[in-house]
Amino acid sequence: MTEAVDKTLETAVAAIRQRTRYMPQVGLVLGSGLSDLANAVKSADVIPYAEIPHWPASTVIGHSGQLVIGQLEGQTVLVQQGRAHFYEGYSPAQVVFPVRVMHALGIHTLIVTNAAGGINRSFEPGDLMLIKDHLNFVGIAGNNPLRGPNDERIGPRFPDMTQAYDPALRRLALETAAAQGLKLHEGVYAYVAGPSFETSAELRFLHLIGADAVGMSTVPSVIVARHAGMRVLGISSITNKAILDPTSEAVVSHEEVLETGKMIVPRLTKLLYGLLPQL
Ligand code: HPA
Repeated sequence: MTEAVDKTLETAVAAIRQRTRYMPQVGLVLGSGLSDLANAVKSADVIPYAEIPHWPASTVIGHSGQLVIGQLEGQTVLVQQGRAHFYEGYSPAQVVFPVRVMHALGIHTLIVTNAAGGINRSFEPGDLMLIKDHLNFVGIAGNNPLRGPNDERIGPRFPDMTQAYDPALRRLALETAAAQGLKLHEGVYAYVAGPSFETSAELRFLHLIGADAVGMSTVPSVIVARHAGMRVLGISSITNKAILDPTSEAVVSHEEVLETGKMIVPRLTKLLYGLLPQL
C-alpha cells in the first residue's frame, strides 16, 4: 500500500512541478469562505485540482478548487484554495493527500485556516483564534489519517502530538497581532466529522472538556504535517456562536459560516501579511 501511495504522490508532484516555476516553502490552506485571500498572490501559477492526478476535489460551496503558487509578502507560497473533507466521503488518507504532496515539494511550514463555531463564551462571530491544541474526535474514534502501514522515510510509527502547533510560530502570531492591534484569541480546536452541525448537548460536552472552537477540518492535515516534521500554524475564523442552550431559538447554517468568513478575510489577511515575512 505504501508503494501505491508513493506512486500517486510522485505523479501528483511531477504534474505540479511541470506547471510551476516556483519552489514553494510555505503551504497555506484556506478554509470555508476564506478563498479570496489567494487573490493577493503575485505572478501566480494557478493549477485547478482537476488537473492534478489523484488530488481530492472539494464538493462544498465556498471552497474553490485550485492551487495558487507564487509570491506573497516575500515568501514563495503554495495556497490551497479549498480543501476536501472526511464528510464528503473521502478517506482520511485522501483528505491529507495535499499535505503529503506539499511535503514532497519541499514545503517546511504549513499554515492552516478554517471556519469554526465559537464554543468559548467570550468569542464572537468575526473573531480570530490561534489554535494552541486540538481534540481529534474523528481520530480517537479510529479514523486517524496515519492508520495503515507507516512510511519510516517520512516519519515515525507513533509520532508525538504534544506541541503540534509550533510554540515559536504561535508566539510570533500573538506578537504580530498585538503589534497590529488585532484581537487574537488562543484556544483548543475540536475536530468533529460533520456534516451535521452539533447538537446543544454535544456542544455543552465540548465546552466542558475544554474546547474553545469546533469544526470539521484541519486536524488530519496537522497530524500528517507533524508526522513529516513540518512546522504548523493554525488559525480559526469564528464564524458563528455555538448554541449551547437547548431552549435557544437560534440556528446555525452554512450560509452564515460563509458570510462571516468573508467578513473576516481582511483581518486574517492582515495577520498573515504580518507573519509571512517573519517565517
Ligand atoms: N460546527 C462545526 N463546524 C463549523 C461550525 C460549527 O458551528 N462553524 C463553522 N464550521
